[in-house]
Amino acid sequence: MEAVQRVVVLPGEKIADINPYLHGHFAEHLGELVYNGVWVGPDSPIPNTDGVRNDVVEALKPLGIPVLRWPGGCFADDYHWRDGIGPREGRPMRVNTHWGMAPEPNSFGTHEFMAFCRALGAEPYFAGNLGSGTPNELRDWVEYCNFGGDSALAAERRANGQDEPFRVKFWGVGNENWGCGGHMTPEQYADEFSKFRTFVFNYPDSPVEAIACGPNGRDWGWTRRFLETSKGWRLGRVQGFAAHYYCGTAGTATEYDETQWKELLAKARAVEGIITGHRSILDEYDPERKIKLLLDEWGAWHPVEEGKPRGGLYQQNTIRDACVAALSLDVFHNQADKLYMANIAQMINVLQALLLVQDDKCLKTPTYHVFDLYRPHQGASAVRLFSAAEAISEGEGAAAHCRDCYLGRQSFALRAVEGSASVKDGVLCVTLVNSHPSEAVEAELDLRGRRLAEADVVTLAAGDIRAHNTFENPDAVTLSAPATVAAKDGNALRVPIPAGGIVRVMGRLS
Ligand code: AHR
Repeated sequence: MEAVQRVVVLPGEKIADINPYLHGHFAEHLGELVYNGVWVGPDSPIPNTDGVRNDVVEALKPLGIPVLRWPGGCFADDYHWRDGIGPREGRPMRVNTHWGMAPEPNSFGTHEFMAFCRALGAEPYFAGNLGSGTPNELRDWVEYCNFGGDSALAAERRANGQDEPFRVKFWGVGNENWGCGGHMTPEQYADEFSKFRTFVFNYPDSPVEAIACGPNGRDWGWTRRFLETSKGWRLGRVQGFAAHYYCGTAGTATEYDETQWKELLAKARAVEGIITGHRSILDEYDPERKIKLLLDEWGAWHPVEEGKPRGGLYQQNTIRDACVAALSLDVFHNQADKLYMANIAQMINVLQALLLVQDDKCLKTPTYHVFDLYRPHQGASAVRLFSAAEAISEGEGAAAHCRDCYLGRQSFALRAVEGSASVKDGVLCVTLVNSHPSEAVEAELDLRGRRLAEADVVTLAAGDIRAHNTFENPDAVTLSAPATVAAKDGNALRVPIPAGGIVRVMGRLS
């Protein structure tokens, strides 16, 4: 018989509305994400609309992608936007120095990216070049995109086919400037940010949000020293502060044992401490929370798949990565009062991708299915959820595996069921992960005075902890059909969750 685990949901205890931006995405000029992944060009035999792959747009549209960050990543601080406008045949060939010295033809630039965002219904988020660019270059990009009046830059945009301003709201001012974006100290970056920010103007009807480069993982010092250097009037010009957190790997993308399964999920859960830790430092300097905390790169980072170029960061994606995505999104919902945006790295063919494409084929990864499953949380009110912790000691050996885990030894305490809950228009949506690699559980939903008489349950699970989708078998891991589950004899609703499985339970509250 399956173990029963109680999950307490308090539908009346609202945390905050779940900003749809918490389900955001990231697309860098890296490997085969932009070229071949999104862009094949109008003359390609692969079905496309003005150069953008139709299969990719068709696959991504149902996810309701709220925001898409581009063009990097490290690439952003070596990108010069003028290379990517005007007739494509006249654009310069550059070299992508960060990512394998790949040729960069600049065929996918500002207008092509905006067309992709429009096709997806996504808000664009541009990462500007602070590392190797100038304030003048960034100001001109903002004016080119956002000015509706009479100026040479606005006229150039119109001549390139876009009459109305693009009205790009989110502008990153550099990326990882503690690393690939210039190896700066936080003090140096704070000064540079302030200088560049001065020239990121609000044009009429196009107010902008300037996003400063935040820390790498738990680098509390970066956050504190940036804020300390910027405090006073300069802080008023920081609208967002973007941390990055990669939970890394354990084993490889597809080869791991149960201990490594638990190790990676423990590292994924640690994102909660990154969010609460940086927000609490921000709160000291910004008690009214005017500065938004973003996590504009997150995900699993496995060794590059055998046979693929090292600079392309191509990795497979298994049911374990699906659990990484689900646990992370659940944390974001539970911290919806502290986190404004989160962008998984990355959308196609790179790192924890949602889609893998090859020639004219496109497959949905297990991570894709999590975003699909979790979509009803977007825009709903996050409410409190507690699950009884079931600590399983893994002993010294296992703890040693996880030396760099945020939670240290405790990171191996396995909570069999965890998740998040939200309410919208009287409908409760609960997503739950059974992170135990080999034991199924039954979750009993205790709604403390409220009830779900019945609910629709959709499950993402696989019989094998290494299960993944391939071009030969693209639906090995996919969502189940919805099943109706009813509460028995007036008792609380019970939902079975397979080992290493994820479920979504949705029903009207009574
Ligand atoms: O997502 C890949 C790289 O990871 C990005 O370019 C960089 O910002 C980070 O280090």
